[in-house]
Amino acid sequence: MHSGTTLTQFIIEEQRHIAGATGDFTALLNDVVTAIKTISNAVNKGALIGVMGSLDTENVQGETQKKLDVITNDIMIRNNEWAGHLAGMASEEMDNVYSIPTKYPLGKYLLVFDPLDGSSNVDINISVGTIFSILRAPVPNRAAAKEDFLQPGVKQVCAGYALYGSSTMLVLTTGHGVNGFTLDRDIGEFILTHEDMRIPADTKEFAINASNQRFWEAPVQRYVAECLEGKTGPRERDFNMRWIASMVAEVHRILTRGGIFMYPRDTRDPSKAGKLRLMYEANPMSFIVEQAGGKASTGYERILDVEPTDLHQRVPVILGSKNEVDVVVGYHSAPK
Ligand code: AHG
Ligand code: MN
Ligand code: MN
Ligand code: MN
Repeated sequence: MHSGTTLTQFIIEEQRHIAGATGDFTALLNDVVTAIKTISNAVNKGALIGVMGSLDTENVQGETQKKLDVITNDIMIRNNEWAGHLAGMASEEMDNVYSIPTKYPLGKYLLVFDPLDGSSNVDINISVGTIFSILRAPVPNRAAAKEDFLQPGVKQVCAGYALYGSSTMLVLTTGHGVNGFTLDRDIGEFILTHEDMRIPADTKEFAINASNQRFWEAPVQRYVAECLEGKTGPRERDFNMRWIASMVAEVHRILTRGGIFMYPRDTRDPSKAGKLRLMYEANPMSFIVEQAGGKASTGYERILDVEPTDLHQRVPVILGSKNEVDVVVGYHSAPK
């Protein structure tokens, strides 16, 4: 593609190759993009418009909501409910499925999102993001129930994230590779800047919240210990470590220069599922990572194959450079 391709142009051209595409999907994506531009503006203005700080409310996971968690959730809803492309929405910040108000038509897609990822970073001016996943509604034009959303990640039609970093970027897959777009604020458009993003198969950089080490299970203990041993250990090279605490920023780093990211199983709660949520964090990110040539696993199975049982269920996440994920997965099946 020539330089200066806008996101809208890119999506229209991509959809031309899909038999039976009606333009609905392109229009839906345009609304998601409008929401993302609006969120980018709010995050960027920050304290100037009074959006920093926390509320007294908690979300369904028991996290104290930031003002921006709620504002960004609202922006996603308002921009996507009216146009008739959706049969329902679900989000980290809403306990139940969001039903499209009866004054609007219903459509054939479902939208699931984490409106503000990394929200613990928002007050300290560190990168945050938005993650979204688009599924097909099992029955088009009918108000979606919770069960309609509980589809494994392999069924996603599209997944993307916006990163509100030193520039605002949107990274996207519809199952034909991964492309990155940078927001040009002067013209208000996302421009294709990172064509066909690929994750290097090897890496010397890992990301994990080491303060949880005492809760990790043996395979992850072994993997991290070996990385820390460096050149003279079994991995025979020195590793670097990063932890931003915004999954979007970690995945973006991995898409750019490789790496492995882990929020693994741990012994803290009975489900041992770690922290990240399947439907609006692990699945969309795993779709993107796989489409860029990387891998995403719970340690025991491919994340995209996990059959969801709940909108807000958590899942262990090990994703990134293919060969490194293979090492960790191998340790999960190694004899004890
Ligand atoms: P969210 O802000 O949407 O609740 O997600 C935060 C997630 C994820 O972005 C990040 O990787 C992880 O939580 C950080 O967790 P710790 O605070 O345990 O490091
Ligand atoms: Mn949260
Ligand atoms: Mn998140
Ligand atoms: Mn969030």
